[in-house]
Amino acid sequence: MMSPGLVVVVLVVMAAAGQGKDLQGSLKLQHLRKTLLQGYDKEALPPTPVTVNVSQFSIRDLEMHEGAHRLSLHAWLGYSWYDQRLSWKAEDYGGAEMMTISSRDVWLPDFSVYNAGDAEATLLTSRFRVIVYPDGKVLYVPSLDLHYSCVADLTYWPHDTHNCTLKIGSWVHSGRHIDISVQKNFSTEVDDEVTKSPDGQMDTMEWKILNVNLKRLSKFYDCCTEPYVSLMVNIIVQREAPAFCWIIKTPAVCLVLLTVVLFILPPGAGEKIVFGGMNIILNLMFLIFTHGTVRNAPSHTPLLVQLISFQLVLAVISTIVAAVLVRAARGPYTTPPSPGLHRLALTLAPTFCLSAYVKQASGQGRLGPGTPKSDEVEIGSEADGTRSGEQGVMAGQWLLLGAVLDRLSLAVYLCISIIMLIRSSSVL
Ligand SMILES: *[C@@H]1O[C@H](CO)[C@@H](O)[C@H](O)[C@H]1NC(C)=O
Ligand SMILES: *[C@@H]1O[C@H](CO)[C@@H](O)[C@H](O)[C@H]1NC(C)=O
Ligand SMILES: *[C@@H]1O[C@H](CO)[C@@H](O)[C@H](O)[C@H]1NC(C)=O
Repeated sequence: MMSPGLVVVVLVVMAAAGQGKDLQGSLKLQHLRKTLLQGYDKEALPPTPVTVNVSQFSIRDLEMHEGAHRLSLHAWLGYSWYDQRLSWKAEDYGGAEMMTISSRDVWLPDFSVYNAGDAEATLLTSRFRVIVYPDGKVLYVPSLDLHYSCVADLTYWPHDTHNCTLKIGSWVHSGRHIDISVQKNFSTEVDDEVTKSPDGQMDTMEWKILNVNLKRLSKFYDCCTEPYVSLMVNIIVQREAPAFCWIIKTPAVCLVLLTVVLFILPPGAGEKIVFGGMNIILNLMFLIFTHGTVRNAPSHTPLLVQLISFQLVLAVISTIVAAVLVRAARGPYTTPPSPGLHRLALTLAPTFCLSAYVKQASGQGRLGPGTPKSDEVEIGSEADGTRSGEQGVMAGQWLLLGAVLDRLSLAVYLCISIIMLIRSSSVL
């Protein structure tokens, strides 16, 4: 039986042997690194053409700034190339299968972002270590903060989807020196629990990434005969902010309903002016609320904003008509509406189911003492109880005209609302 002391001695000797082996390996790697970098000029291109294989583009975080038309990404970009100057025979160096070197010490492709938002964001400067394999393959996976321009199409805001293209390529070298190829099974996934929610979706706040696609693009410029090769990264993101949608959609629906109510009110009623004014203020408030997000929408005004603006215009028209009618119906009437307008109103009235107004306008609808009074008549007659028949007819003609105008507005409003609904049906 071994004594406890002996056990300890054996263990210590074993550990020392292990350490010795580690130390030896470490020294071998140090020697290897020294040998490889001796006389190595990191400014010189490896034997050309250098083909850079892009194998990974994983988005860790993403933020869209619609106002500034910028997309900010935090991503890992993985690419590899062959640099023969960095190859070695594994058996000469204790079977070293790979080695890491600081990226400051070796040649790197001068990749830049062509459509960066500002000059500072152009150069990909992150400094990480590269992995070198015995056959001279160099693998580099920097973690990058990318800021680049992406024009946001806000037509379907707040259900908008954006197609943002990031363009990366060598700044000075043409395709003859640095070529880019995209590995067929390139990866866009990050296998990391931290950035994922339990259901496996990437958890990036407001935006959902629908698709990431990498493509090689070769382009000729006027200056030169050789092609310039770049990497296109297409990212399709969709806004996914349920609370945001509700905050915008609920008021919009309520405003639409309120506007319909405005058209239902009789044209000569004083309440219509009050209600119309309130409606105008609410519509304006909605537009101001959305202004912050959509003011810079370049070519496409959001359908929702178009709808509310249009609603605002119609509410203003309806309120003005109501005000004019109240004025015309209450004052001492100097003139009836021009005969042309009156005839037009008479023609359109049956279409809009306004025959009651027609009767009133022709004097037949004068209400007897027992008849319940409608709002319009009230306005016409309340100024003084001694309204003459002629004045009543004139007031009736004005009211008829106002009613026809209101119905026309309602019809136009409904048409436009339905068209907008159909246009935006894909996102509602
Ligand atoms: C790049 O990809 C090509 C073909 O897919 C392959 O032959 C080559 O070895 C790869 N180069 C590197 C550095 O991975
Ligand atoms: C996104 O834009 C790129 C370049 O403009 C285009 O090639 C690609 O087809 C677009 N993708 C979609 C889904 O529209
Ligand atoms: C892609 O396929 C190659 C072999 O064809 C494999 O070595 C490599 O691991 C694959 N990469 C990914 C990200 O699946």
